[in-house]
Amino acid sequence: MITKSIIVVTLAKPLFSAIFACLLTQTCVAQKFKKSKAATLSEAHDGSLAVDLKILNQFQEHPKELNDFYIEARDALLGGEIDRHLPNVCKKYGVKTIGKSMLGNLTDKSVTIRVQTPEAATLNVKVMAKGKEKTFSSTEPNTISFIQCDSLAANTSYTYIVTNTENEELAKGAFTTPPKAGAKIPYKIAVGADFHKIGIHRPELLRLVEKRNNISMMLLGDLAVDGRRTVTLRNIDYLLRDVSPVWQQFAANVPTYTSWDDHDYYGNDTSGQYFQKNKDELIPVESFRSNWKRMWNNPEKDIERKGIYFQTVIGDAHIIMLDTRSCRVNEERGQRHCFLGKEQTEWLKKTLKSSTSPFVLISGGTMWTDYISNGKDSWGKWDKSGREELLTFFDTIEDKKILLFSGDRHGTHAFKIKRPNGKEYIEFGVGCMGGVPGGGRAKDKSMQIFAYPGFKTWAYGELEFTYPNGSPKVTFKLINPKGEILETVEL
Ligand SMILES: [Fe+2]
Repeated sequence: MITKSIIVVTLAKPLFSAIFACLLTQTCVAQKFKKSKAATLSEAHDGSLAVDLKILNQFQEHPKELNDFYIEARDALLGGEIDRHLPNVCKKYGVKTIGKSMLGNLTDKSVTIRVQTPEAATLNVKVMAKGKEKTFSSTEPNTISFIQCDSLAANTSYTYIVTNTENEELAKGAFTTPPKAGAKIPYKIAVGADFHKIGIHRPELLRLVEKRNNISMMLLGDLAVDGRRTVTLRNIDYLLRDVSPVWQQFAANVPTYTSWDDHDYYGNDTSGQYFQKNKDELIPVESFRSNWKRMWNNPEKDIERKGIYFQTVIGDAHIIMLDTRSCRVNEERGQRHCFLGKEQTEWLKKTLKSSTSPFVLISGGTMWTDYISNGKDSWGKWDKSGREELLTFFDTIEDKKILLFSGDRHGTHAFKIKRPNGKEYIEFGVGCMGGVPGGGRAKDKSMQIFAYPGFKTWAYGELEFTYPNGSPKVTFKLINPKGEILETVEL
């Protein structure tokens, strides 16, 4: 008997202390985030439970159950044995999917729907428009399923429902396919960067992107993960994204194209194969790339490439999103091609050459020009000759309008790039999806079209493709959370 009691006490003690510690942590955390003001950029880099709860509840206080689920699911991810622990937590809270659905890889005839389930599952999707429906299924049971829905009609609004094999509804949403290239039907694409985890939880801008009928959105780095150096830590940041009702609504209804910047990659100003401040600290580039492909829903993710860059076509716009972080060669800094790498440079030229679209949107992660921060951690301090080589190549392309985009520098700005042959490019930076400080106006304003510093500036960019008198035209608009148009640039 005595032996049995000792065993019971010995087993019970860690359990009680774990429960006590958990209750204590949750109470302390709850008190801490209730007292505090808005999350700051340095807090976003911090990644502690207290800060992450503050970010989650910053714009609207969510029910206790949602917070508790996040805390326990996060613990399950951090504790290892995810396959065993995470399904238990999800079962306890009746959660059937981590997040809801995430749309991506939109074309005029297809879309891909990403759904994450606690346990491997085979999923079905019913896609409906104009009284007709089509059904698609995942090819094999998986915890992260990408369900390809094809043979869709162009320029058509669809609704969809995701179910499991028990016919339970897991997620639903809507999307609109772009018009076919050359159809001369107007449409809109949104662009933005630098959520820094915070902006994913603010409702106004993401709702506006959807309400103003943008058919997709380009997101250019510093998004949901901030300075996390292991896949496990990255995935708890993705969990924070996925429990956000604001993000769930957006991702289920607006297909996204995403690229990473330094904070998604490894930390401030990081790139290449190792951490510049400590060369012995190798960055697990390959596992970060493959995690990126699982946690976002981008085109061409199954193509073998040393980098996360890709291209796709939306109506009359060819979208090319570059990887300006993981392909850098640190020890060749200052030499040509150290920034994009030779392979990506050649791929970009080949893609541009074979493009048949009148507009090409090329995103570069960090800034193309040096007007803000004097080229810090970008082309101007890494690879001026590689940049010149590309601009010279762009100059030879006569039949297209090339627009450049970037994130990284906070705030929002547009700069002209004037070329010796008289051509002019415009770089748009919309790094104000998180309202975080940084960026600002250029010292040399001769090429500046507009600029707003980052602190408390919230806005997204909208590209409207129209066909006045039958000719294709694109207009950039900068829109604040009230839906006011701050800037209009006609191209
Ligand atoms: Fe940033």
